[in-house]
Amino acid sequence: MSLPPSFLDELRARTRVSAVVGNDVKLLKAGKEYKACCPFHDEKTPSFYVNDQKGFYHCFGCGAHGDAISYLVDGRGMGFMDAVKELAAKAGMEVPAPDPRAQQRAERRAGLVDVTEAAADWYEEQLAGIEGAGARAYLDKRGLSAAIIKRFRLGFAPDDRGRLKRALDRFGVPKLVESGMLINPEDGNREPYDRFRGRLMIPIRDPRGRVIAFGGRILGDGEPKYLNSPETPLFDKGRQLYNLDRAQAAARKAGRVIVVEGYMDVIGLDAAGIGEAVAPLGTALTEDQLRLLWRLTPAPILCFDGDAAGQRAAIRAAERALPLLGPDHSLSFVELPAGQDPDDVVRAGGRAAFEALLEAPEPLVERLWRHEVAAGPLDTPEQRAGLKQRLFDHARAIQNPGLSQLYRDDWLARFDRLVGRERGGGGGPGGGQRKPWKKNKDGRWVPPAPPVGAAARRLSADGIVPHLLEALLIGYARHPQRLLEDAEDLVRLELSDPRLAALREKLLDAAFSAESLDPGTLLPILADERLDSPSRPLMGYSFVKPDADRAQAAHDLSATLETILAAAEIESALEAATERLEREFSDEAFGEQQRLLGLRRDATDRLAVLARME
Ligand code: UTP
Ligand code: MN
Repeated sequence: MSLPPSFLDELRARTRVSAVVGNDVKLLKAGKEYKACCPFHDEKTPSFYVNDQKGFYHCFGCGAHGDAISYLVDGRGMGFMDAVKELAAKAGMEVPAPDPRAQQRAERRAGLVDVTEAAADWYEEQLAGIEGAGARAYLDKRGLSAAIIKRFRLGFAPDDRGRLKRALDRFGVPKLVESGMLINPEDGNREPYDRFRGRLMIPIRDPRGRVIAFGGRILGDGEPKYLNSPETPLFDKGRQLYNLDRAQAAARKAGRVIVVEGYMDVIGLDAAGIGEAVAPLGTALTEDQLRLLWRLTPAPILCFDGDAAGQRAAIRAAERALPLLGPDHSLSFVELPAGQDPDDVVRAGGRAAFEALLEAPEPLVERLWRHEVAAGPLDTPEQRAGLKQRLFDHARAIQNPGLSQLYRDDWLARFDRLVGRERGGGGGPGGGQRKPWKKNKDGRWVPPAPPVGAAARRLSADGIVPHLLEALLIGYARHPQRLLEDAEDLVRLELSDPRLAALREKLLDAAFSAESLDPGTLLPILADERLDSPSRPLMGYSFVKPDADRAQAAHDLSATLETILAAAEIESALEAATERLEREFSDEAFGEQQRLLGLRRDATDRLAVLARME
């Protein structure tokens, strides 16, 4: 049974949390709040606070947090409805009777779930039976184990127009039609018949884990490859995501959620140990689906197939997200090698191969930039103006005004760099480097306008991953072209070790003054520092290895630098957020601190992956 949100809001407004909690523990007045020894964990000095204005409690010791209702549910083990009834009685409020129409709809849906659940059972039995031999062989060929088949409740629909209908006749034909299991011919002369015939059956579950629909895959080649349940009272394609029920928990643990295109990708990833993947249901990602994803993480990773259709779908999703973007609502992108989907990747190279691709997802701002730049030639002023126009249109689509401006600035800066380079081939040091760099009075290279705040400079990243900064500089020495491209970011790194700071200056000096840059140009500097054959712990980094794939290594290098810089910003934001939380105990401050802790975890994880040290 569901209660109208307005009722719950009023109930919360009329209930003093301190009165409820005060029954169990002794509260001491502390300014506008109360404090107490936490009822949720054992402690001698109070770190549990109650705030009646905000209507919640929070424990700084164990993190317990909630309102009056959750206090009764979590603290006293009451059921939700019982807690509501008890608080309503105290507040003199009447718990509203359920809306009869909503009740009816819920009952009808519950009836239909019985049908789809029973169908799933029956398809599972058929897969295990004699007729399922072909489907079993197909699954075997695809490398799916019995455990995975059971976990995803895969099944088989025999190639017959009436078998399911007869097997489930206890539900009656109208329900079988309404749940989408039977097709009801329009002309009315023919009888309803089984929708899914001769197909591998993939049950689609709702967020509570109940089967509500199916995707049916043809065995082998043929058209259509997938047949899906139609829209039914249970199944709304645009509002559901395949595997969301399981991915939710996995996503919280992993701190990320991966959106793939196909059912089989989700299943293949899960089999490889990556449970936090979901898929849309054969349609483009909708706003509703984006919102579902954002409940799990601020920037879901879209990992669509490496073909034209997959990348088109990724761009469409990006464009759909634009109006909704915000600090916690974005997307990131991973482009798979052409012709491969996530399932192919894990089957060929296991989890590690997929994780390697996921190391540094491309932010939305960059993905759209890359898409628009690749859209056509930029030889004429008209073509270049067209690019600028398209970028500005995207920026305008962003409704959050601050963010819209930042996107515009970012794209404009990229545009200027690109056009500047294409026009003149660049003047100034290092060939491609267009902007005039200067040396300051200490003889250090500084960019024309330092793009960072103090936050990034306060970094002391040495502790994040041992030897990380050393590995990074070795990497840039091995990839001088990338050194020039990233120089602006590289100088923002606070290097507390004077030896490393000096090495950076030497590398920049040499790179900026070199006539031409090839992979060997800066190696003598490494040899001087006896860093040309680095110690074991550094060898995990692709960019330290002499024999690594150069493109991959250069990419990893930038990703590592970017992550360290981001980590520095996160670190100082976290300090500020923690101070604020201690000062002004609010939902918002708490949320912000938690968000930053999550980001810090992500950054550290990403660095560990880059160091190949998981
Ligand atoms: P894919 O063809 O990439 O599917 O379509 P897949 O899951 O990787 O399947 P395999 O590996 O070839 O067996 C992606 C998704 O698009 C929808 C389905 O939801 C599918 O999972 N689709 C595809 C359809 O709805 N109908 C089709 O005919 C094809
Ligand atoms: Mn596939």
